[in-house]
Order: sequence, then structure tokens, then C-alpha cells
Amino acid sequence: MRSPEFKAQPIGIIHCPYTDPKEAPIQGRFSGTRGEIEVFPEYEEGLKDVDGFSHLIILYWFHRAEGCSLLVKPFLDDEPRGLFATRYPARPNPIGLSVVRLLERKGNILQIAEVDVLDGTPLLDIKPYVPQFDQRESATIGWLTGRL
Ligand SMILES: C[S@@+](CC[C@H](N)C(=O)[O-])C[C@H]1O[C@@H](n2cnc3c(N)ncnc32)[C@H](O)[C@@H]1O
Repeated sequence: MRSPEFKAQPIGIIHCPYTDPKEAPIQGRFSGTRGEIEVFPEYEEGLKDVDGFSHLIILYWFHRAEGCSLLVKPFLDDEPRGLFATRYPARPNPIGLSVVRLLERKGNILQIAEVDVLDGTPLLDIKPYVPQFDQRESATIGWLTGRL
């Protein structure tokens, strides 16, 4: 039995220079682009202590993604790949995930770098990037092998 639908609310907005999906890098790690996260004031208290982290994981809604196919031609390949083996933006739940570099926090505003999202992207959550939790030295990368 499927679980019931649930609601998610944006906790902020991501501002950055990209307005055209073709302009944005395929991953922020490949660009130094800077941006700004505006966390809505009612969530500002939750930003206490983020300053000590050099990188943050941000989760957001690909608000300009359209449609969804379970086989897609990803940015780095010509062969159709299973959607869930890619980071393709158009998904059943169009949730994106980026590791960004935190440059500065002033109140509810975070200055960030290594951005790969479009201007106005709704922010769903922020978590600290912790190598001891998030890094896997033994990770293998399937069809991406030899492409990065
Ligand atoms: C391949 S995705 C990777 C995003 C993220 N780092 C991830 O792994 O989930 C990056 C591309 O998504 C597209 N994109 C970024 N923000 C978007 C948005 N709000 N709506 C639709 N497409 C978006 C851009 O074309 C960008 O080049």
C-alpha cells in the first residue's frame, strides 16, 4: 500500500546568476559560481552554528523541470540511462541536492559558491556536509566510470 501524500514547504530561495537551464553547470563542483541563499526569517534561528562548516548540503525543488521519463539521456552520455542512476532534474519528485561551499553567513543570508541551480530555486532543507558521514572512499560510479 502506498503511503499518503505529504506536504513540503520551501524554507527559503536560492539566488544565483543562472536563468537558463543551459547556462548552469551540470554540477556545482565544476564551477566557482557564487550565489546567495535567502532563508525565510522564521527559520533563521536554525542557522545557528552553520558558520563552522565549510560546505553545506542543500536540498531544493527543481521548479522549472518539466515532465518525467524513467529512461533519460543524461548530460554526460548519449545512451539512455535509468533516471535513478542519474542526477537528471525532471523526476517524479523533482528534488535536487548540491554540496555548496559556505563563504559567509549574515543573519538569514548565506553567501555560497559552487552553485548549479537556477535563480529562484525553492530551498527545501540545509544540512552540514560532514566528510566522516558523507564520504565513501570505496564508492564505484557505474556508467559514469571514465567520464569524469
Ligand atoms: C544535473 S542537475 C544536478 C543538480 C544537483 N547537483 C543534483 O545532483 O541533484 C544540474 C542541472 O539542473 C538544471 N537545473 C538547475 N536548477 C533547476 C531548477 N530549479 N529547475 C529545473 N532545472 C534546474 C540545470 O540545467 C543544471 O545544469
